[in-house]
Amino acid sequence: MEVSPSLLSANFANILPDLEMINCSQADYLHLDVMDGVFVPNISFGFPVMKAVAKHCSKPLDVHLMIVEPQKWISQVRDLGAEYMNVHQEVCPHLHSVVQQIHRAGMKAAVTLNPATPVATLTDIVEDLDMVLLMSVNPGFGGQPFIEHTLKKTRALRCLIDETGSHAKIEIDGGVNRETAPGLAQAGADILVAGSYVFGAPDPLDRIAFLKNL
Ligand code: DX5
Ligand code: ZN
Repeated sequence: MEVSPSLLSANFANILPDLEMINCSQADYLHLDVMDGVFVPNISFGFPVMKAVAKHCSKPLDVHLMIVEPQKWISQVRDLGAEYMNVHQEVCPHLHSVVQQIHRAGMKAAVTLNPATPVATLTDIVEDLDMVLLMSVNPGFGGQPFIEHTLKKTRALRCLIDETGSHAKIEIDGGVNRETAPGLAQAGADILVAGSYVFGAPDPLDRIAFLKNL
C-alpha cells in the first residue's frame, strides 16, 4: 500500500517537526488539501504556505484542490514541484481539457469524486488518468467518520480500471484508520490518505507503517 499523510491535521503553529517526521517515515507522498470556502465549506491554506512546505519536504507532493476553477492554478501547482495535481470532477465541465493541461505542465493528473458522484462519470476518461481519488467523507474537514459505501465504489472503480487497462491508481481520502484501512486494501485501493489518524497520534511513524504494510 502507498501512504499519503494529509498535512491538514499537522500542527500549523509548528509545522517543521511534522515535516521532518514525514521525511523520515515510510510515507510515499505528502497530501496537501487546498480549500477555497466556495466549493467546500472551509478554507485551509494556499500557495505561500505550500511553497514553504515544499522546501522542507523530501516526499513527492499530492496536491488535492477542493476549489472552483482549478485549471487557473496549474502553473503554480507545477512550480511547487507537485507529482499529482488532483481536481474535483464536480467543478470541471471540461474535464478532458483540464487533464490535458495538467499533463502538458508535466504533472500526473488525478480526478477526485465526492461521495455522491458515481464512478461511471469517469468511464470516458479513466484511460487518460494517473489517479482517481475517491472521497470517503464529504470534503472540507479532517476527522470525519468513514462513509462505508466507499468500499462498494472502490470495487466498482477497480473493475473499471482493470477492464479498460487504465494505469490509474486508486486513492481514498477521509476517515482512513486502523479499522477502515484493511477493507480498503481488500477492495483494491492503491494509496491511502490519512490526516487525523497519523497526526493525532503519539506514534505517527507506527501509524504510517501500519498503513504501509497493508
Ligand atoms: C478532507 C481532506 C482530507 C482530510 C482527511 O476534505 O480532503 O485529506 O485531511 O482527514 P482525515 O484522515 O482525518 O479524515
Ligand atoms: Zn484530501
